[in-house]
Amino acid sequence: MNDKITTLSGSEINPFCFGTMQWGGKADPAASERLYQQCRDAGINHFDTAFSYCEGASETMLGVFCKVERDALLIATKVGHVGGGGKTNLLSQFDQCQKRLKMDMVDVLYLHRFDPDTPTEETLETLAELKQSGKIRYIGVSNFSAWQGVDALHHAKALGLNIDFFQPMYNLVKRQAEVEILPMCAAKGITVAAYSPLGGGLLTGKYLRGEQGRLIESEMYAARYEPAFMREAAKRLCDLADELGVNPATLAVAWVHAHPTKPMPIISASGADQLAPSIKAMSFPLSEDLYNQISALSPTPPPATDRIEEA
Ligand SMILES: NC(=O)c1ccc[n+]([C@@H]2O[C@H](COP(=O)([O-])OP(=O)(O)OC[C@H]3O[C@@H](n4cnc5c(N)ncnc54)[C@H](OP(=O)(O)O)[C@@H]3O)[C@@H](O)[C@H]2O)c1
Repeated sequence: MNDKITTLSGSEINPFCFGTMQWGGKADPAASERLYQQCRDAGINHFDTAFSYCEGASETMLGVFCKVERDALLIATKVGHVGGGGKTNLLSQFDQCQKRLKMDMVDVLYLHRFDPDTPTEETLETLAELKQSGKIRYIGVSNFSAWQGVDALHHAKALGLNIDFFQPMYNLVKRQAEVEILPMCAAKGITVAAYSPLGGGLLTGKYLRGEQGRLIESEMYAARYEPAFMREAAKRLCDLADELGVNPATLAVAWVHAHPTKPMPIISASGADQLAPSIKAMSFPLSEDLYNQISALSPTPPPATDRIEEA
């Protein structure tokens, strides 16, 4: 975490963030507000939303819940998941984000995903315009590869800007970010907010118990977490958690944050009971031994050079 990043009122950012993707979906307004309060009680002051979450309900609720303490929080939203990274699309989506959030300024604005059809200069110039007019404070990119991030950084620097946040997927069974993204961000001083620390719920062990959830309800998530080694890793994580008398979700989230580059896990849940073990991860003492034991439950991705004999 880059320590120059603060809330508007100057507070440090908690090393864990909460993602509001379920607000207005599985979490109704009352459940969402309880989740918000649960996070605030735990010291979380960074909330992640997006233009595309639940047709705007997530942003609208976040705007309501945080109104009385707005300046004490870091609010991040994302644009360009659909419609690309061109100026017209970004400005029109961001305008709607601001209206839903009821905020003159949004702390972090991410480009939600890389757009191969728009010159990166155009995207960065648009973000520069938003920053210069005081509508955003920090710039982020999500679902970018490391080279796309470095390219964006190069264009940002030419405009006197930074890429402040990177938002990749990262969890025990999705470890691609370890190869280039995490080291690149550490080298360039970019803060990493890692999404899906529980593998969309896989690492809680709920699917081993035959419970319902996203990996059954969504074809996209079912395909993402289909490989047999992922199910096997989840099972072995649950066995280890049983031995230790701890919830597997606590281990999974603590493991993400224990990477040497200290990514910030974006935790999430559709209800208070679900969230509790992820919050416990904030204070769970994960020893180096246990970190290595958990890492060994899934394949370590080969290094970028592919010279595994040297890794
Ligand atoms: N930039 C991007 O493209 C992107 C993509 C995805 C997410 N995100 C952000 O990252 C945040 C977190 O992502 P994520 O939701 O994928 O994170 P995750 O931690 O991998 O999965 C959270 C889901 O796991 C299940 N769960 C959580 N705790 C549980 C427990 N104790 N027992 C059983 N099930 C449990 C719930 O799913 P069920 O509802 O199925 O029970 C919950 O919604 C999102 O809210 C969003 O802000 C960003």
